[in-house]
Amino acid sequence: MATTTKSRQMRRQYGNWPYPQVPLLATLPSTHPWELNVAWLWDRCGSGAAPRRPRIWIAGCGTFQPYAFAVANPRAEIVATDLSEPSLQIARRRCAWHRQKHVAFAPVDLADESTWPDGEFDLIECYGVLMNLPDPAATLRGLRRRLTARGVLRLMVYPHWSRQRVFQVQRLARLLGLTAHERHHPRVLRSFVTSLPKAHPLRYAFTSYADSRNDAGVVDGFLHAGDRGFTAYQLGALLRDAALTPAFWFHRPWGQPDLMAERLGLDGRSQSFVLDQLDLWQELRSNFIVCARRNDAPPREVQPPTPHPLFAGDTGSLRHKLRLERLRWFGGSVPMRTGEGDYVLAPQAARALRKGRAADPSNPLVLGGRDHGPRLPAHEDFPAESAWLRAASAIRIGRGARNPLYAHIFAAFELADAHPELALPDIDDQIGRWLPWADPLEARPILFGLTPYATWQRMQTNVRELLAKGPLPHADGYHEVRLLGDRQALQRVRDRLRDHSGLPQRHFDDAELRELFVLLFSYDRLSLTFEPA
Ligand SMILES: C[S@@+](CC[C@H](N)C(=O)[O-])C[C@H]1O[C@@H](n2cnc3c(N)ncnc32)[C@H](O)[C@@H]1O
Repeated sequence: MATTTKSRQMRRQYGNWPYPQVPLLATLPSTHPWELNVAWLWDRCGSGAAPRRPRIWIAGCGTFQPYAFAVANPRAEIVATDLSEPSLQIARRRCAWHRQKHVAFAPVDLADESTWPDGEFDLIECYGVLMNLPDPAATLRGLRRRLTARGVLRLMVYPHWSRQRVFQVQRLARLLGLTAHERHHPRVLRSFVTSLPKAHPLRYAFTSYADSRNDAGVVDGFLHAGDRGFTAYQLGALLRDAALTPAFWFHRPWGQPDLMAERLGLDGRSQSFVLDQLDLWQELRSNFIVCARRNDAPPREVQPPTPHPLFAGDTGSLRHKLRLERLRWFGGSVPMRTGEGDYVLAPQAARALRKGRAADPSNPLVLGGRDHGPRLPAHEDFPAESAWLRAASAIRIGRGARNPLYAHIFAAFELADAHPELALPDIDDQIGRWLPWADPLEARPILFGLTPYATWQRMQTNVRELLAKGPLPHADGYHEVRLLGDRQALQRVRDRLRDHSGLPQRHFDDAELRELFVLLFSYDRLSLTFEPA
């Protein structure tokens, strides 16, 4: 397969901006990445005891993951690959500096299978990469062919609904003419977005995004040359079509479909259905991270309880053994990506793990003893989804139509009515179910518009009025509509752009200025009036 345009774009972007931007000397304590250990992941996925010397492939490794996986898997044979040579160089230097010698590096284009490393792998890690590829389904099918029979693929993709604000900032940057190709553009974008009012949801989305503090992170998040999100249905279908089954959702407990189905009274539905609700209501609080197995893998098994190999202390460096010794005497906490906050390990529990005693399967550092897999069926189709996604983001023509800046919030309110075949509870019932569990993102001075339930709580009357308007005609783009006071609105945008130094000089047509008006100046209104052009 020839190099695709997308691969060329990605090679250029991640060649200029290796990601993530982490200082070379930053140390990862050896007890921290325990959830990346193959034996632990195999256990959570029901694959039983992992090989003593597992083979791991990090497909699209960036600058940091090879080091983290090497620390988490001192006995593994690790192959780390990426399209970006500068990223590989940094990753190689990092591993050398931290004396992690069991990682081999190779340049690989995941869109071109002829470049892939040989053989099968017990763990394939593909984290934040699939949405950069021209044909994610083909790549996923290829990755599945490289899994051993009980092997695990850990996959991270961006969620469609929860990432809408990031996509809106990306759209703003594109309209402003800011790209990943100019060294100073991340700084220009940062200064532009942080000059928006404090109550602006795009400013909040940008500043609360951890990666926005460094330029490579701004490029990866907001100046990306072409990424995308997946709805939970799209992800479910992608896995099914690649003959993969979700075996363990690598989310904090809140994001486990089984738990949420129970809390929200959605039991009996599929994982795709429940995760779509979590994403739509902005409660996922993470990207989609799934550990999947081949459909033809042996049945799930539960091993007898055993200590996590990193905490049993029979592997690892002298420094690691000293860390365990400290835990044995004083206890300590270890970060947990699949739980809420850190896990606090008492000295007694640390001693039990080191002595090979692991009776308590509720201890996350114990392997075996219970099945951690999802009970719900993996996937159900939502056949009308692509039409629904188009309708949800369309501009509505009419007086007091819903503001496109809040389209993803309205989608949560409208889904039950728009698609009765999904058999969702009605809006009041849904809100009632969500509120006890809701953990609103809204932080003052943001009044509304970050999460559906908080918007509902604060603006219930306005939301109800807007929903009561029923279906309004759709427009295909900003060239087909006019705003009320269109000329003044466009002039307001021109003035704003002129006043901000550092923006590229470019000509804007009226449709672009109108869209910029919506993105920049309409955040304090749930509704806007659009007239046909
Ligand atoms: C968002 S970064 C994630 C890096 C790493 N997985 C992590 O989580 O830190 C995306 C990575 O995918 C790589 N990438 C993009 N397209 C690729 C392709 N076609 N083949 C291989 N790697 C690719 C980029 O070079 C970049 O390092």
